[in-house]
Amino acid sequence: MLTSVTPTPSRVLNYSLANRIMSAEDAAALIQHGDQIGMSGFTGSGYPKAVPMALARRIADANLRGNKFQVSIFTGASTGPELDGALAMAGGIHLRLPYQSDPETRKRINAGEMEYMDIHLSHVAQFVEYGFLGKLDLALIEVTAVLEDGRLVPSSSLGNNKTWIEQAERVIIEVNSWQPLALEGMHDIYYGLQPPPHRQPIPLTYANQRIGTPYLEVPPEKVVAVVLTDSPDRNSPFKAPDQGSRRIAGHILEFFAWEVQKGRMPATLLPLQSGVGNIANAVLFGLEEGPFEGLTSYTEVIQDGMIRLLNSGKLVGASATAFSLSPEMLNEVNRDMANYHKQIVLRPQEISNHPEIIRRLGVIAMNGIIEADIYGNVNSTHVMGSRIQNGIGGSGDFARNGYLSIFMAPSTAQRGTISTIVPMVSHVDHTEHDVSVIVTEQGLADLRGLSPKQRAALIIEKCAAPEYKPLLLDYLNRAERLSYGRHTPHLLGEALGWHSRYLRSGQMKPQPDN
Ligand code: COA
Repeated sequence: MLTSVTPTPSRVLNYSLANRIMSAEDAAALIQHGDQIGMSGFTGSGYPKAVPMALARRIADANLRGNKFQVSIFTGASTGPELDGALAMAGGIHLRLPYQSDPETRKRINAGEMEYMDIHLSHVAQFVEYGFLGKLDLALIEVTAVLEDGRLVPSSSLGNNKTWIEQAERVIIEVNSWQPLALEGMHDIYYGLQPPPHRQPIPLTYANQRIGTPYLEVPPEKVVAVVLTDSPDRNSPFKAPDQGSRRIAGHILEFFAWEVQKGRMPATLLPLQSGVGNIANAVLFGLEEGPFEGLTSYTEVIQDGMIRLLNSGKLVGASATAFSLSPEMLNEVNRDMANYHKQIVLRPQEISNHPEIIRRLGVIAMNGIIEADIYGNVNSTHVMGSRIQNGIGGSGDFARNGYLSIFMAPSTAQRGTISTIVPMVSHVDHTEHDVSVIVTEQGLADLRGLSPKQRAALIIEKCAAPEYKPLLLDYLNRAERLSYGRHTPHLLGEALGWHSRYLRSGQMKPQPDN
């Protein structure tokens, strides 16, 4: 149960900040219509829980009185029902960025009632620092504790917290006693990143190296409120890997073995990045059963599969910006948090997703998709070209800069009515130039070194579902004969026809009457 407790400031050791403890309602009263607020939170962890709820109530009251009250919310990534859900439900969000996965928020965005900017997670901090998004009025940050000298022990995610605190005019801190104190020491916050032209190389050369400090620094004069909470993160259970996900994982493991045999990767592989969702988690489960040892991970989120790999000894070190664990795994990790300090490092997302480091380490990026086209362009975000699902998240940061960029999906969606391999994607997040491998439960297409027509033949052969294969081949054959240009053959009048047909008939496959 969410609680905003009365002052028992055992976790607020700084005298002057302890004096600013107040209720969530009083803190929310400091927020004004039109404010732009940088909030903590990444994949359902470390987001503020009490003040957003109090703000949502305030907004609902204002709306009842006929007064417009909306704020813009910037975070690390997705949060939880007490933040995105409550504020969207109250109609309180004007602009949201950079990533969300909340059903209510998604509904409002797709109804055109809310602005949403879907941007690369590594870009967010610098967008704010460069002033592209205007003034940041407030930072609202969940932490685990406040030290005597006023430094903050971060909670289960770091996201953009450092930037929000630096850039905002005022700061509200939520101190959540549900977060284990043993989180202290797990974070690594790098304060050396300067804006161009003063930017220097980031001195990070292996995945779980520490280059910063475990604490967030906050100028005490900026802190206008401290709110005490005792509330769990949103933790969603993962689906047990189904047969399709296991087959996808199997294809990827076989591919890794081939790459090692070819001498293109060491037997310990290269640092792994694993995206959000059930398939990504299933691949990690697959690695647990696979032959590879001494693995490392340079990624965004620590999921159940990562912890299992760590526990099995197969993974020796992991870097991320947040935890994203099922409730059962979270209990296990929280009990044992101190023992993970050597293996896990949590960093600001501008570092966990930094192109320079991803390229230097040679990260293997593995991310889920909505659809891919026969030439290898990938849509990670939009259903039928216009309806946002979640957002690009960090997939672009890793895909563009990694050593290998793998995208994966079941070959069909929505009980087979949709092929995830289509003639032309209805929205592009990752172009053919950033995609090395596409894999479905049907097979794996290694696109490296292939021309567009060669890629098309291989993607159809390896990845398409049997019932869609002849249709895709028919499209490609006709396009090769009739296309305006023969380099990337397309029939423009037909290329998005599969999507239009689905919107008309609920089926991508042609029906007798259309
Ligand atoms: N057309 C229509 N709907 C589709 C679809 C398609 N081509 N492909 C997937 N979907 C739907 C599924 O049917 C499912 O819908 P449901 O919730 O109604 O059942 C939903 O999208 C999620 O798909 P699922 O197969 O469960 O995949 P997932 O949990 O692996 O998530 C993404 C897939 C693409 C949504 C997810 O990976 C994502 O948000 N990616 C972008 C961000 C990212 O890559 N972040 C990682 C960086 S670290």
